[in-house]
Amino acid sequence: MASYPKKGCRLNSSSILLTSIVGKIAIFTDDPGWHGKQLQLAFAARGFDSTFTSLTECRLRIAPGQPPLQIPEFAHTLPDAVFVRGVPGGSLEEVVLYLDILHALKALGIPVYNDGQAIERSVDKGMTSFLLHTAGLPTPLTWVLRDRDAALAIAEQELANGHLLISKPLFGSQGEGIRRLEKMTDLLWLTSSRGVYYLQRFVECAGEGFSDHRVFVINGRAVAAMQRRGKFWLNNVARGASCEPIVLNAELADLAVKSAAALAMDYAGVDIIEDRAGRYTIIEVNSIPAWKGLQSVCDANIASLLADDLLGRCLRPPSSYDVDNRLTA
Ligand SMILES: Nc1ncnc2c1ncn2[C@@H]1O[C@H](COP(=O)(O)OP(=O)(O)O)[C@@H](O)[C@H]1O
Ligand SMILES: [Mg+2]
Repeated sequence: MASYPKKGCRLNSSSILLTSIVGKIAIFTDDPGWHGKQLQLAFAARGFDSTFTSLTECRLRIAPGQPPLQIPEFAHTLPDAVFVRGVPGGSLEEVVLYLDILHALKALGIPVYNDGQAIERSVDKGMTSFLLHTAGLPTPLTWVLRDRDAALAIAEQELANGHLLISKPLFGSQGEGIRRLEKMTDLLWLTSSRGVYYLQRFVECAGEGFSDHRVFVINGRAVAAMQRRGKFWLNNVARGASCEPIVLNAELADLAVKSAAALAMDYAGVDIIEDRAGRYTIIEVNSIPAWKGLQSVCDANIASLLADDLLGRCLRPPSSYDVDNRLTA
């Protein structure tokens, strides 16, 4: 386990016995579920209390002598760190406010895991594709544009050249809203997502059926991986894909680590397809990845690894922050 402030902790040979809480973590989520519980247990085992809170309940308050940020359950203080397990959808203004809260926390010196910038870039599939490509990493041919006629022309040309095409919402997760264009008549249903077309060449995967790899990276290290086998071409666990353990090879691990670095993430769930020619292609880099499926096929306790990384690497002493001190510092 990593070293971090252990005020009041006693160690024995097999476990950590805690005599007092050494700090408090805010877990941003609107649906704590299994992941929230795992994180709470991991933080508690390290002496940190954690509270679930929604970004929808947070406020900026710009007033002299007042803390500029209000988080429910943290009346006169701020958390020692925040773990972002969910950013709610909403209008552009609502989402900008949620990101403002994350940016503001970071500006006040509070570790935000993953931080607002990493989340902002990775929930935007267009920016993810751009950053992967400019970092020299393999990712499918992709077009992101507004013009419908131009989008149709690209799709027509791809189909005419014998390629299938994927259309995705710019902001989306768990396979939602993704469609595959297979033949010219499918173009009748080519729709933008809120005015933007994100079109990507479909990558035919190696082997039987449909599969890809999910590699979990924490602090520049690939800590776990699995193969996801889709019931059809969508390999999301939320869409019924099954999880199988794999032994990570060096190339897969290296690509996943470089992908997380390209998006400046503390941790990431990286989706990588092996194509029919045996080349790896990066599909997505998730900044708020679920790990329930992965946990079912790997030995490492992922919540523990995440808690160790956040507390051990990102948290700086003193572990308890006083907003007023920070404001006058
Ligand atoms: N270009 C592609 N070629 C082949 N399969 C793809 C491609 N893009 C997405 N997929 C399939 O769809 C799934 C979901 O796509 P992804 O971009 O990861 O979006 P989401 O955020 O919804 O998970 C992938 O895991 C993969 O199975
Ligand atoms: Mg994905």
